Amino acid sequence: MANNLLKGKRGIITGALDENSIAWHVAERAYAEGATFTLTNAPIAMRMGKINELAKACNTEIIPADATSVEDLEKLYSQSMELLGGKIDFVLHSIGMSPNIRKGKPYGDLNYDWYQKSIDISALSFHKMMHVAEKLNAMNEWGSVVGLSYIAAQKTFPFYTDMADAKAVLESIARGFGYRYGKAKKVRVNTISQSPTKTTAGSGIDGFSAFADFADKMSPLGNASAADCANYCVFLFSDLSRMITMQNLYHDGGYSSTGISEEVIEMFKA
Ligand SMILES: NC(=O)c1ccc[n+]([C@@H]2O[C@H](COP(=O)([O-])OP(=O)(O)OC[C@H]3O[C@@H](n4cnc5c(N)ncnc54)[C@H](O)[C@@H]3O)[C@@H](O)[C@H]2O)c1
Repeated sequence: MANNLLKGKRGIITGALDENSIAWHVAERAYAEGATFTLTNAPIAMRMGKINELAKACNTEIIPADATSVEDLEKLYSQSMELLGGKIDFVLHSIGMSPNIRKGKPYGDLNYDWYQKSIDISALSFHKMMHVAEKLNAMNEWGSVVGLSYIAAQKTFPFYTDMADAKAVLESIARGFGYRYGKAKKVRVNTISQSPTKTTAGSGIDGFSAFADFADKMSPLGNASAADCANYCVFLFSDLSRMITMQNLYHDGGYSSTGISEEVIEMFKA
């Protein structure tokens, strides 16, 4: 059900690759709630062409940008403001990629050039997006910036390798920039720590399906879906959440606070 929660708000949504992407769901929900926004993704991701369908459905345009390039991000903000007719109220950072995970490198044997890529794409791009927004004075007061994280930032999940480090940096940037941007412009900055979700980035992780099933059995509410995550993003973009900032917010059906569940105990009974 739509309630016009984002009526009159302008945004930038990164990371919609296909209909499984968390960002895809966020775009659909934000559109239903009355927002106008631009979509963006890395130029290489455009080749898949799927994002054009989303742009059509949301009556918007795509501005290609490599989120590691400050120059691309400058164009992204200036073109978005031009297209949308004013400053930006919300930004979704939904970007993650680890060449080490893609190529099956274990944590003890990382390729350091790839490691730097993982950090640059998955974490520093969050800083760059806010740095450029601040420099161009592109955000309205009481705007909202949301990044997507994972609990591997706090606890070790061996298969998550260097992405765990990237998520720890991402969450720290949310605090560092959240303080700065809050003082300067009342802009709030948060990360959502999401349940395992079947997407291109998620499924690239070895043993993902087994782990997602385990998390589902550990969580009293079950895993949060991409559609649930989209609802949470809409709330964080809306005026209902205007005093929430510098937080890492668990959106995981209770997983992060559960020691063990009855279902998991059953699995280990002889
Ligand atoms: N899927 C999960 O289980 C899960 C759980 C918690 C958090 N997350 C996070 O959610 C976010 C979105 O991932 P998703 O699961 O929807 O997968 P996804 O693969 O659909 O989205 C990742 C996006 O990052 C984009 N991207 C990669 N490199 C880029 C670059 N240089 N510039 C701009 N964009 C770039 C990709 O094109 C893709 O659209 C990521 O930060 C991910 O780590 C995912």
